[in-house]
Amino acid sequence: MRKKVTVVGAGNVGANCAVRIADKELADVVLVDVVEGVPQGKGLDLLQSGPVQGYDVNITGANDYEPTANSDIAIITAGFPRKPGMSRDDLLLANFEVVKTATTQVAKYSPNCIIIVVTNPLDAMAQAAFLVSKFSKNRVIGMAGVLDSARFRTFIAQELNVSVENVTGVVMGGHGDTMVPLVRLSNVAGIPLTELMDQATIDRIVDRTANGGAEIVKYLKTGSAYYAPSAAAVEMAESILKDKKKVLPCAAYLEGEYGINGLFVGVPVKLGARGIEKIYQIKLTEDETAKLQKSAASVQELVNVLATRM
Ligand code: APR
Repeated sequence: MRKKVTVVGAGNVGANCAVRIADKELADVVLVDVVEGVPQGKGLDLLQSGPVQGYDVNITGANDYEPTANSDIAIITAGFPRKPGMSRDDLLLANFEVVKTATTQVAKYSPNCIIIVVTNPLDAMAQAAFLVSKFSKNRVIGMAGVLDSARFRTFIAQELNVSVENVTGVVMGGHGDTMVPLVRLSNVAGIPLTELMDQATIDRIVDRTANGGAEIVKYLKTGSAYYAPSAAAVEMAESILKDKKKVLPCAAYLEGEYGINGLFVGVPVKLGARGIEKIYQIKLTEDETAKLQKSAASVQELVNVLATRM
């Protein structure tokens, strides 16, 4: 059976997800967007790249969800990106309505799919998708940690002039400026970061990681990042579609893990055919725990606002 992925939102992140899924020949793709013609046009354009790129997947676009029926995965990217000066949290109410509609339709046509949420503010939008879909918690996952740790790894590799392939970077917490890059668990080919850099350099990189999205928004002016976010979402989709069981930092619904209850927060998870197959609970230091709690509290604030509108 061919695999099928629905990508809701045919904008920058969504279209790039489709490109990457096709390039990797992971699945057929259905792009859905509210703007008439855009998902159809981008879908056809991408389909016509197949003979040149050497992929053989079907890519279509639609303004309704009927063609998405029986998808294995739905990646929700629909919504508004931020502009300079905006935080991800400023998008809360507008994007909540979008994610609510998208999730309702996705769940109706693909009741057995796994949902990957990309729309910001990420953790709160994942929570909304979880509550609206009524899916089990292993089937709703937020994309944030893969992107944040990719940024962290990039900056570490740049600083040390080493291959990024050697760099492991762990980032936990919410996808906002309270995220928690875990220096203690990050390394270069097994060598702890603290052996390779002084504290001031580490602090600078941690700060740049936490503000990595804003740095790009400032350059782009009209929107936010999309190449790395789409790469991150598709890494998660690939691990699920191929049952690779990669261990990746993702936003997951926690029920007591790390002392956090009933909330989506970024933690290391195992991603396989059943979605989140395991949540890893690692021992954190007091300082790390305090930072994670602070990050969770800022997600909770947003979720409390949404709770009044569910
Ligand atoms: N249903 C489907 N698509 C929608 C809906 C909806 N209800 N509302 C908006 N869209 C579409 C828009 O028409 C647009 O094509 O979502 C797309 C968003 O694309 P962009 O504006 O290019 O934004 P993008 O950069 O892709 O970011 C999307 O991902 O990373 C996050 O913060 C980012 O929340 C933002 C989301």
